[in-house]
Amino acid sequence: MATEIKSVTKAVIPAAGLGTRFLPATKATPKEMLPVVDRPAIQYVVEEAIRAGLNDVLMITGRNKRALEDHFDRVPVLEQQLAEQGKDALLASVVATNEMGGDLHYVRQGDPKGLGHAVLRAKRHVGDEAFAVLLGDDLIDEKEDLLSRMVEVQQRTGGSVVALMEVPREAISAYGAAAIETVAGEDFVKVTGLVEKPEPEQAPSNYAVIGRYVLSPKVFEVLENTAPGRGGEIQLTDALQTLAVGEGDGEGVYGV
Ligand code: G1P
Repeated sequence: MATEIKSVTKAVIPAAGLGTRFLPATKATPKEMLPVVDRPAIQYVVEEAIRAGLNDVLMITGRNKRALEDHFDRVPVLEQQLAEQGKDALLASVVATNEMGGDLHYVRQGDPKGLGHAVLRAKRHVGDEAFAVLLGDDLIDEKEDLLSRMVEVQQRTGGSVVALMEVPREAISAYGAAAIETVAGEDFVKVTGLVEKPEPEQAPSNYAVIGRYVLSPKVFEVLENTAPGRGGEIQLTDALQTLAVGEGDGEGVYGV
């Protein structure tokens, strides 16, 4: 366990993917900007991070993603018009998206070489602190309070924490799969191994890693030495496998 554990205040949101699964909707629009009810999907993710006290949000973007920055920026002319028209509720909804009450930063991935590679782009900004990673493809019910629980487990263990969800065996090949062990008296599990998108018959369990992570900064060092894996991409799951079997400072992986 780490000797000094700093509180978690930074969230990283990888958003550089090409969104090919959603074509043609994502031909000219980033998939993160596709609306879910009344707001773009990315807004739910930023709201979730800020609700968990992670006010420093770094988005990893790329080409054709400028709409993301625009969405969280001020539009004075629109605000003024809504104010003049007395459209107070709409004005409030627009103002609420201005930086979301947090501090938003952007860095580009350039060459999308996988989730692990995207997370590595956050190294300079994050520094030597634990941080969260939120993937925009998974939307979490706000009643769950998942991220806060994960932060708390990270602080207690000093390691890295993944969110797990049981899925039908045949669905596991769409996710990272975790081998787990219970920890006596705790409400989290120890992750003893991870495999990225295994065939159902090779999966260590039907516990899928969903898109929320609270990571020890040790992950950066490991990612720098992680060779491309599944799909020729640098996989975060592979770096977490290395951390799961390690016993040093900042190592160990836990599941909520
Ligand atoms: C990524 C991760 C995978 C994880 C999934 C959760 O895969 O690589 O381990 O289970 O997110 O959404 P992707 O869906 O980006 O291919």
